[in-house]
Amino acid sequence: MDQAANLRRLVLEKKPDGTSATRTIVITSGKGGVGKTSLSVSLAIAIAQDGKSVTLLDADLGLANINVILGIIPKYNLYHVIKGKKKLKDIIIEVPEGIKIIAGASGFQQLANLDVKQRDEFIHSIAELANDDFLIVDTGAGISQNVLSFVMAADEVIVVTTPEPTAITDAYGIIKAIASQSNEKHIKLIVNRAQSVAEGKRVAQRVINIAGQFLNIKVEELGFVYEDLYVPKSVRNQKPFIVSYPNSKASGCVKVIADRINNKEIELNKGTGITSFIKNLLGHSNLDAEE
Ligand SMILES: Nc1ncnc2c1ncn2[C@@H]1O[C@H](COP(=O)(O)OP(=O)(O)OP(=O)(O)O)[C@@H](O)[C@H]1O
Ligand SMILES: [Mg+2]
Repeated sequence: MDQAANLRRLVLEKKPDGTSATRTIVITSGKGGVGKTSLSVSLAIAIAQDGKSVTLLDADLGLANINVILGIIPKYNLYHVIKGKKKLKDIIIEVPEGIKIIAGASGFQQLANLDVKQRDEFIHSIAELANDDFLIVDTGAGISQNVLSFVMAADEVIVVTTPEPTAITDAYGIIKAIASQSNEKHIKLIVNRAQSVAEGKRVAQRVINIAGQFLNIKVEELGFVYEDLYVPKSVRNQKPFIVSYPNSKASGCVKVIADRINNKEIELNKGTGITSFIKNLLGHSNLDAEE
């Protein structure tokens, strides 16, 4: 069964109540440790806070840790699904933060290298989850066939990078790998751990330019997230930063990104707090000026 066709079916189909279909968004990166998991959890919650139903799937088949960030110990996880002991729909957990999660199978290294049949069955079962507005998928880092399968299957892909040169180079690497399979893919970029608006924009622009020039693929700037001590602090507390520190700079950025994903731009000067502050900065920042 063609994985891409499977998720495309999921995207195109209407939900049972006739409303629009599930949007599938895969979050990935070239370099590891750039903040995919932290961002995907808080982003999923921010989208849910906007009134959408969201399932977050931990597809890091090796070092799964969405449940760790949420401070829960699931009884069943993807291991049981891939081993055929449970159905995907039976392991979905509703968390108090207002999203549903599908826990990954941490520590089961053999799952990081599914064979083609297992991967197809797994992706097939994901396609049966077409009840929500969003399915967000957190993947492991790097260019593995598993990650690429998820990327190619999804509607949209978000590549996360940090301003570090190694992360930027690796972001280019994963974009190149995606482009080599399809240049139709809708790639969006988040620059995490930016020190300033200008840095976030400059890094995004660099990736966008190189991808456009050398790969002939369009990458869209989705936004940036500030370097923020509340992010590691919330990881230590096992409570997502968007919930424990909703007024932090990182949370403000994630809310802006969630609104962009929902195509709901915040009107300039109309919001309050950090979200409108960042929105204003974005609206007026000069690309070349360092803050
Ligand atoms: N905006 C930020 N400001 C400060 N620290 C951050 C920020 N984003 C992420 N971090 C820190 O970076 C570390 C790695 O984050 P995370 O686990 O989310 O990365 P990842 O990309 O999912 O890693 P992996 O590739 O191993 O899956 C965490 O300790 C987190 O607290
Ligand atoms: Mg991760």
